Amino acid sequence: MNAVIEPRKETTGEPLVVAHDLARTFDVSPPWLNRVLERKPRVLLHAVDGVSFSIERGKTLALVGESGCGKSTVARLLVGLYAPTRGGLQFDGQDAHAAFKTPEGRKLRRRIQMIFQDPYASLNPRWIVEDIIGEPLREHGILSGKAELRERVGELLKSVGLSPLDMSKYPHQFSGGQRQRISIARALATQPEFLVCDEPTSALDVSVQAQVLNIMKDLQREQGLTYLFISHNLAVVRHVADQVGVMYLGRLVEVADKQKLFADPQHPYTRMLLDAIPQMKHTGRQRTPVQGEVPNPLNPPTGCAFHPRCPHANARCSAERPKLLGIQGVQVACHAVEEGRI
Ligand SMILES: Nc1ncnc2c1ncn2[C@@H]1O[C@H](COP(=O)(O)OP(=O)(O)OP(=O)(O)O)[C@@H](O)[C@H]1O
Ligand code: SF4
Ligand SMILES: [Mg+2]
Repeated sequence: MNAVIEPRKETTGEPLVVAHDLARTFDVSPPWLNRVLERKPRVLLHAVDGVSFSIERGKTLALVGESGCGKSTVARLLVGLYAPTRGGLQFDGQDAHAAFKTPEGRKLRRRIQMIFQDPYASLNPRWIVEDIIGEPLREHGILSGKAELRERVGELLKSVGLSPLDMSKYPHQFSGGQRQRISIARALATQPEFLVCDEPTSALDVSVQAQVLNIMKDLQREQGLTYLFISHNLAVVRHVADQVGVMYLGRLVEVADKQKLFADPQHPYTRMLLDAIPQMKHTGRQRTPVQGEVPNPLNPPTGCAFHPRCPHANARCSAERPKLLGIQGVQVACHAVEEGRI
């Protein structure tokens, strides 16, 4: 039976982040002249195609899914690096994309920060750490005096487990994990409420990953931070998430509390992802063998985009796109789940 999802019991107010039907299309057409001469049509790639979710203050929503499913595009939409082609984003009750375009947008940008996957590429190699972490403080006019700035940079370094003495060094003098800590310190400089973390530990060794993840969890607890956390690593997601959203070809196919998702995945794609991890415990249900590859996003399958890979697909699946519905306390987009076939 389908039902509207009940608000979570511990909800204390409005969610901090509400994405509604967010979509982003990229024009990947050949150059204009080739199109005219070779009579080629315009080509649009639907990187994100109608994604809705909300994140409560102080909580973490993790987004998972195979390469190219649109995770980074969602991240960039959330921080205003991309404007949506459709849909919108409410942040603390205000229309974020409308605000980003106004002078008020500066205030909003202070409240929403992003951490990228590659800490080396995102840190200017020619700047010392003091300037790297101090830049957002200066740019947003938060602090300008040299002494104040140094003091604050020192505090930020300590908050991520580094020493204030590190501020006179260059990025190349640090290990990968330390560099990612510097990125986190820089992101925290403006005292944001919402951090969008795009694969923040994927470039790190496993042992270092755990340290960085623990720092991020501690910071969340201490500062009440809200995270959108992107990872293709389900073990990492299991460690950090409160809720998990599973994406496939630009859409969310399942959104559930972490415990529920890992213990009782509903969507065949979620099952396939979980079954690909050998060490995951299973609840006795049959494994869904991993099969096929992600389709070309320029030519997505009809109906349910997962149908060419799905062991439960039938005629309805290839004809009709399933909607994300509230079913037994989780949101799932699957005809077979809706019909009670699986
Ligand atoms: N600026 C762009 N121009 C054209 N196509 C883009 C652009 N950015 C992303 N895409 C395409 O949009 C789709 C989604 O890309 P995105 O980077 O969001 O995926 P992802 O889930 O983050 O993948 P990964 O796990 O590899 O980081 C892909 O097909 C990608 O090729
Ligand atoms: S809608 Fe059909 S094809 Fe898609 S996941 Fe469900 S059963 Fe599989
Ligand atoms: Mg990405």
